[in-house]
Amino acid sequence: MANVILVGAQWGDEGKGKIIDVLTEQADIVVRTQGGNNAGHTVFVGPTKYVLHLIPSGILRPGTVCVIGNGVVLDPAGLVAEIDGLARLGVEVTPASLVISETAHVVFPWHRELDGQREVRKGNQKIGTTKRGIGPTYGDKAARVGLRVTDFVNASRFPARFAERLAENNEILRALGAQPIDHDSVLAEYTRCADRLRPFVTNTVVMLHEATRRGANVLFEGAQGTFLDIDHGTYPYVTSSNTTSGGACTGSGVPPNRMDRVVGVMKAYTTRVGEGPLPTEDAEISDLLHGMGREFGATTGRMRRCGWFDAVATRHAAMVNGIDELAVTNVDGLDSVRSIRVCSSYRFEGQTLRHVPSDAEVLARCEPVFEDFPGWETPTDGIRRWEDLPVNCRHYLLSIAQMTGARLSIVSVGPARDQTMFL
Ligand code: IMP
Ligand code: MG
Repeated sequence: MANVILVGAQWGDEGKGKIIDVLTEQADIVVRTQGGNNAGHTVFVGPTKYVLHLIPSGILRPGTVCVIGNGVVLDPAGLVAEIDGLARLGVEVTPASLVISETAHVVFPWHRELDGQREVRKGNQKIGTTKRGIGPTYGDKAARVGLRVTDFVNASRFPARFAERLAENNEILRALGAQPIDHDSVLAEYTRCADRLRPFVTNTVVMLHEATRRGANVLFEGAQGTFLDIDHGTYPYVTSSNTTSGGACTGSGVPPNRMDRVVGVMKAYTTRVGEGPLPTEDAEISDLLHGMGREFGATTGRMRRCGWFDAVATRHAAMVNGIDELAVTNVDGLDSVRSIRVCSSYRFEGQTLRHVPSDAEVLARCEPVFEDFPGWETPTDGIRRWEDLPVNCRHYLLSIAQMTGARLSIVSVGPARDQTMFL
């Protein structure tokens, strides 16, 4: 398999968790390189549903080593709860199956509180964040005042650093009219979590280099999607990390010339959770998908906004990520649609645009130009071979891959491992 980067080609929730789970069959190591517990990766193994937030989906394959890389922001209590939740479902997470980077940054309650406060202040300009403190934690990292895992698990250093950061942030919170964070109870909670997590912490950069030198196959598991990227997304309606393929390098310490392939995951239609432009948004397909019980967020339970497939967007994603291969998921979501629309360009002030404009306000005013494809109007969730898919379905999938500009290699028609076809 070599070293593979997997990214979301749309606005997140492309079904990456499932594709990662399928690909980890061939991976020795799975690495998360950015984001935090804002992510929600849903994976079904048999009848059991697992929702992972921080731990790479590889944890569900015995023998796979999972890495939380340096680019991640880690909420200790969230991680401990996730480890305990997996244990209740029979998945033991041990220092042999999960390692945590010393240089990942730590999320604190003031980050979550500030996340919420800033959203309230933005009013109808709000981003619609997951309120997990992701933006403020990356903000502290960039401002060089963040605490890293190495500080957090250092029992002699941590209390003083914690008190310093708490004091400054409580001043800010008071100025905003918010409740200050309590010192003693939060320190006690973080100390308890540090004791739990200390055995998992290591120098993951060195560990990954040694493993790749020995020939290990590494899968870099992207979280969120291309248009939530802090540089390449619909800023400011984005998350605070590099969700595109470059983030896999900076977030792990594995250099670009050690990467072999980039796989882009996209839905057969488009969804977005949170605010910001979504040119192909459409009430008909939203109602259809929500009516099927689909497209509710895995982290916050929010209803996802839905639209038709946007080939302008995915073409842009193929460009900035260097996508070699495509995995298309949720194909069965379109099973009942008579005529399927695909956006092939945008109209903006009388002009045709074939790329995604950088300015979110311009993008918000773009009108999609659609091409219509005949639907297949047959259930596909029971189909297991590419050749057995309805001809209209194959035509649709090959067309959207071609419009995106990469080779179609995986098709998913449902959440189960076996509802996956390889071309
Ligand atoms: P944040 O990452 O919580 O700051 O949220 C910023 C934006 O990214 C919001 O629109 C969120 O809904 C969106 N977002 C963050 N994580 C995910 C994800 O895993 N899937 C989909 N959207 C996400
Ligand atoms: Mg998700």
